[in-house]
Order: sequence, then C-alpha cells, then structure tokens
Amino acid sequence: MSSTETTAVDKGKKRSNFTGRIGYVMAAAGSAIGLGNIWRFPYLAAKYGGAVFLIVYLISVYTFGYVLIMSETVIGRKTKKSPVSAFRHFGNTKAHSFGGWINAIIPMLIAPYYSVIGGWVLYYLFSYIQGEVKELGGDNAFTNFISSGTSVEFWFLVFAVCTIAVIFFGVQNGVERVSKVLLPLLVVLSVIVCIYSCTRPGAVEGIKYFFIPQMQNVSWMTFVTAIGQMFYSLSCAMGILITYGSYMKRDVSIEKSTTQVEFFDTLIAVLAGLMIIPAVFAFNGADAAKTLKAGPSLMFITMPKVFGNMGFGMAIGIVFFLLVFLAALTSSISLMESAVSTFQDELGMSRPIATLTYSGIYIVLGTLSSLGFNVLGGVKLLGMDFLDFFDFITNSVMMPIAAIAICLLVLRSVTLKGVEDEVTYDGAPFKRKKVYNFVIKYLCIVFLVIILVSSVLNAFGIIKM
Ligand code: TRP
Repeated sequence: MSSTETTAVDKGKKRSNFTGRIGYVMAAAGSAIGLGNIWRFPYLAAKYGGAVFLIVYLISVYTFGYVLIMSETVIGRKTKKSPVSAFRHFGNTKAHSFGGWINAIIPMLIAPYYSVIGGWVLYYLFSYIQGEVKELGGDNAFTNFISSGTSVEFWFLVFAVCTIAVIFFGVQNGVERVSKVLLPLLVVLSVIVCIYSCTRPGAVEGIKYFFIPQMQNVSWMTFVTAIGQMFYSLSCAMGILITYGSYMKRDVSIEKSTTQVEFFDTLIAVLAGLMIIPAVFAFNGADAAKTLKAGPSLMFITMPKVFGNMGFGMAIGIVFFLLVFLAALTSSISLMESAVSTFQDELGMSRPIATLTYSGIYIVLGTLSSLGFNVLGGVKLLGMDFLDFFDFITNSVMMPIAAIAICLLVLRSVTLKGVEDEVTYDGAPFKRKKVYNFVIKYLCIVFLVIILVSSVLNAFGIIKM
C-alpha cells in the first residue's frame, strides 16, 4: 500500500494512482510477501508432500494464480472501484453483490489470526533481543509459550496495536518505503540462512525431500493445500488486488508487473522452504518425520534450533525475526486497510469510525485464536482449534468461492476481449494470452469446484484426504 492509496481512501473523492510500475509492484509485493511465504508455505510443504507440493504449487502459481492476479487487477483498473462496487459495476443483482462481498469479507477474517502469528513473531524477536538464544532453541520452548494464554494474547495485542496505529494515523509512504528496503534485505538474509541450513550434516535429506518427488508423501490434501496456499500467498481471491488495480495507472503494464510480483513471492517462499525443511532433518534427526508434520509451529521450532547452533545466533535471530515481523506487518496493514475501506465505502462510515468498528471485530476474533491453544483448548470447531479453523474456512472454503466469482465475472461481464483491451492498453503485447484464456475458460472453475467440494467433505468427515 502506498501513501497515494491512503490519501485516496482518506479523501474518498479523487482516486489517486500509484507512482508507476514500481509503486504497484512494491505495494502488491508488500501485501503478497509475508507470513504466507515464510511461515505457512514451509509448514504446508513439509506436511503435505514435499517436492510434489512444491511442483503443484509452482504450476498453480503459473496457471490459476496468474489468471486471478491478472483478472483482479484488470477488474480494478477498469472499474476504478473497490471489490463490492466493482462487482456491482457490472450488474446490480444479488449474485454480483454476493461475489463482491465474499471477496471483501475474506481479509476481515484473515487479519485477526494473521496478527496472532505476528504476535508469536514479536515474542521471538523480543526474546532474541534479550539474548535467550539457548532457551528458544530448547525442545519445549514453543509449547511452553503457546500454552500461556496471557503471553499469546499480550503479543497479539502488541502486534494488533502496531497495525491499528498505522491504519489510524495513515501510512504516508510508510509501507511502500519499508517494502523497498525490506524486499532486498529479506532475499539476502534468506540466502545466508539457507546456505547455513543446507550445509548442516544431515540436511541433504531435507533438500531431497523438498526437491525429489516421492509419491508416498502425496495425498489429495497436497493438491487442496497447495492451491489454497497459492491464493493465500499471492493475496488473490480476496479483493485486495481489485483495490490495488484501481490505483494503477493505465500506462503501466499489467502483465509485467504481475509477473514480477509472482516471481518475488515465489522466490521468498522457496527460500523459506530451503531454510526450514533441511533444518528439520539436520536438527530434529530422529524426530524428523514427526517434526515435518508439526504444522503452524514448524518455523518456531526449527529456526531457533538453527540459530542456537549458528555463530552469531543471537544477531541472526534478531535480524530474521525483525524481517519476518516487518513482512507480516506490511501484509496485516494491507489486510486491515481493505477491511476498513470496505466499511467506509459500503457502509458509509467515516475513517475513524470504520477503523474503530473493525478493530473491535478484529480483537475479538484474534483473541479467540490466541486462546484456542490454551484457555479455550477444549473448544474445537470441526475438529480444529480456532486459528486453524479460521485459516481453513477462509482458504479452503471462501477463497475458492471468491475465485469462482471472479472467473464468472470475467467470463460473463468483462469478457476476454475486455481483458485483452485493458492489458494491451499501454501498447504492450499480452504475452501469456493463450494460457490466460485457456485456463480461465476451461480449468479454473472446474478445479475450484473440486477443491471446494473436497475440502468441505473432508471437514465434515465424509471423505478422508
Ligand atoms: N499474502 C500474504 C502472505 O503471504 C497474506 C495475505 C493473505 C494477505 N491475504 C492477504 C496480505 C491480503 C495482504 C492482503 O503473508
């Protein structure tokens, strides 16, 4: 998100533009690159099939991800509106409203639990600053932390206050600037930690696990989660990119910029996989198979072990968690910004009222997720704790529906010709037009319906994936 964007929302009158391609790429990359890449991608890849997960992920970024990123940006730039109004622009029916709203509601549900993880990151950051390198690398450090309701809630609130403060006082170039410095730093530090992880004794098994497909690791969940992760990581299927598209100038090449966003986002995810998965094999030797299945805690279990063994472990730990914190903050700001601007645009609230109202919802939902591991540990929704439940509902249920809505809007209302006109407006060729048309016409909807149906059946225990 850039200052220009905030100004547009603040004044609510004139819609400003990003400065140019770099402005859009930085804003979109700042939103895309976050916990999804560093925390979520490695644990899903570890849990659901290693190399096969990676392959399915890469293919889906190139096909579905590309189509969605392009479509949303085109819809935004054509209509110059945020999701709900953008859908209505093409017809004032219930179906259009539904399509717009489902896109707009997803970020509202993601922001709270996202910030809970952001809080975990902050806790680790502060513990490193206090020099607790050895303690954090211990076997039960994470479990001890997570089972204390007060600390998890406290760090969630600290992260929440950071996010709300930025939204409340306006970003004024903040995020765009932060992203510009952050992105290169993140790449450099990731490469250093990757090299260290991958050269530990025993790490080779992890590299093999990540790059050499082994069919026994694959299940239907590999496909469902890989495609879900692609949406999550690229911030697709939740209206954000419609809003960003609406701030994009018409002389900027849509295709070039979206390709760059995809590239950076994927690069960081793969690097994170290479930091974390080999470390599982190097540092959790006998327990490797079990640790691979650790789920959301994986990054918090393996990285401290890496830093605990590394020279300058404390310094690297601090830098690492600081970068993850900033990456998470830029994403959570953009999640919250989209929630607040929906309240402003669609419910006619002023910015302070919209921020306050949404903050209330955000804190309640985030608190549920924080306490789901301790105080509310006994409460399960469809067999999941709160955090997993919100993650599942948004990624595996709502996002496929939102993505179907976007595809239908493109096919029925915008038309493929309309997309092409918008993409080639600046005179650039539409290089991947064949891929785009084929995927959106024949693959997207079918695949999305399969994903949706199977994840719902799985959640209700009707099938086992
Ligand atoms: N893509 C972000 C990440 O990888 C997370 C995210 C999901 C997000 N949806 C979003 C960020 C919407 C901003 C806006 O961490």
